[in-house]
Amino acid sequence: MRLILMGPPGAGKGTQAKFVADHFGVPAISTGDIFRANVSQGTPLGVEAKRYMDAGEYVPDEVTNLMVRNRIDEPDAAPGFLLDGYPRTLAQVEELDGMIGHTGHSLDAVVVITADKDELVQRLLARAQTEGRADDTEEVIRRRQEIYLSETEPLIAVYKERGLVHEIDGMGEVEEVTKRIFEALDAVSQS
Ligand code: AP5
Ligand code: MG
Repeated sequence: MRLILMGPPGAGKGTQAKFVADHFGVPAISTGDIFRANVSQGTPLGVEAKRYMDAGEYVPDEVTNLMVRNRIDEPDAAPGFLLDGYPRTLAQVEELDGMIGHTGHSLDAVVVITADKDELVQRLLARAQTEGRADDTEEVIRRRQEIYLSETEPLIAVYKERGLVHEIDGMGEVEEVTKRIFEALDAVSQS
């Protein structure tokens, strides 16, 4: 399976990615997590990415695309993968098409997790207390929401035209949401 998990900040991409990836036996690849690992290790990529992440802006496409290309080339991703938080721009969609097309495979599904705006903010502010992510401040959360709406939400229509989109209600218990995703994707993997 080659899957994309999409949704606004706090929708539950990272939370659900683990369960979905395990279920299908593929690696969960989170661009946000890879950037954060680089930031904490102080690599040149981390230094570059941190400037954008702390402001809630997207890291430039060239940087992000190269990073994903390298990760997808790893042997564990040969049978498939789940992407959490990539692609987020039209240029990234095109780049990913090239990466997958090159291997002779195709994308199987795009899961879009939805949730109420107030709930999203509550979740991220709650996470700020426990995890202390640098971008979980009210101001930066607002910017992340704006940029998602302007840059990433329009990509849903692109994938809808290809018949790949499964919109999943992300409200309610984590296990409930997981169940909804499994129901949608099991139908895809059996078809
Ligand atoms: P990224 O780390 O991907 O952040 P994000 O998109 O803002 O999303 P989050 O990780 O905050 O939310 P999530 O949907 O994963 O929700 P989670 O499961 O954690 O990206 C960070 C930054 O990296 C970007 O701003 C950008 O700078 C850069 N970046 C990344 N990818 C990029 C790209 N492709 N191009 C350019 N730049 C890129 O859940 C949130 C909280 O809610 C958690 O505490 C969780 O426990 C809780 N929760 C989850 N589900 C539920 C539920 N059902 N009920 C109650 N609580 C729940
Ligand atoms: Mg996440």
